[in-house]
Amino acid sequence: MKLGIIGCGAIGSDVAKAAETIDEIEKIYLFDIDKKAEQNLCKIIKIAEIKPVLDYLDKIDVVFEAASQQAVREYASSILNAHKDIIIMSVGCLFEDKFRIELEKIAKKKHCKIYLPSGAVCGIDGILSASVDIIDEVTLVTTKSPKSLGKSVNKRTVVFEGSARDAVKMYPRNINVAANLSIAGVGLDKTKVEIVADPVATRISHKILAHGKFGRLRAEVENMPNPNNPESSYMASLSAIATLKRIVNPIQLGA
Ligand SMILES: NC(=O)c1ccc[n+]([C@@H]2O[C@H](COP(=O)([O-])OP(=O)(O)OC[C@H]3O[C@@H](n4cnc5c(N)ncnc54)[C@H](O)[C@@H]3O)[C@@H](O)[C@H]2O)c1
Repeated sequence: MKLGIIGCGAIGSDVAKAAETIDEIEKIYLFDIDKKAEQNLCKIIKIAEIKPVLDYLDKIDVVFEAASQQAVREYASSILNAHKDIIIMSVGCLFEDKFRIELEKIAKKKHCKIYLPSGAVCGIDGILSASVDIIDEVTLVTTKSPKSLGKSVNKRTVVFEGSARDAVKMYPRNINVAANLSIAGVGLDKTKVEIVADPVATRISHKILAHGKFGRLRAEVENMPNPNNPESSYMASLSAIATLKRIVNPIQLGA
């Protein structure tokens, strides 16, 4: 399998390093608007080569995005139109219904897939199964350090309370998990989000609370920050790598 990677930052680097150890992956094409990031990563990945995205589309099988919402807007339709699968980490960009529906339409027409790793949150499998029947309510409570939310508060403060749609619009880099959760469950308008800035928080915590016909679900994770980007949870990288492994694995686990 040949893999394209957009974004050579914290997650892109973790994924490239892991991808090199997956037998089925024979080649990796790297792209980043930051040329230094691109070159630094290319130096340590033996099977990697630097190439602009549109120049490698005929050569790859899957593109992994870990860059920004802007990058998804820029490349996702071209990737799908070229009959290639895409793994999206900047899931927040899918809050725009028109854009998400358009990508789904292209993917269907071209028989390819849009993979959304569960990312930094745990419990998506349960929400996905529960959504087959009626879910009454889904709430996400995310707690981060004030700095990673761009806030300066000296006590625990709720900085946002509202819909997942508004949360991902207001915090495009911080709350991708809200988009994941919404797509799995009751949608961007019905999923409730609370974002808490906590000066004593050393971990990034995501708590999902849901109830419906299935019963009740409570899932909580306390994530270590990624050593190369304290705003990202290390779990997000692990989830991306697990998604890649799932693509090449004959056994497909989970809902
Ligand atoms: N789904 C999740 O749970 C989850 C969790 C953490 C982070 N994320 C998202 O994943 C993305 C990557 O996170 P990260 O921690 O690796 O960030 P990072 O800042 O460490 O790296 C991002 C890299 O992408 C590059 N980039 C930005 N825009 C680009 C573009 N248009 N084209 C090409 N390269 C571009 C940057 O130069 C940078 O090197 C972010 O959008 C972040 O919000 C998602």
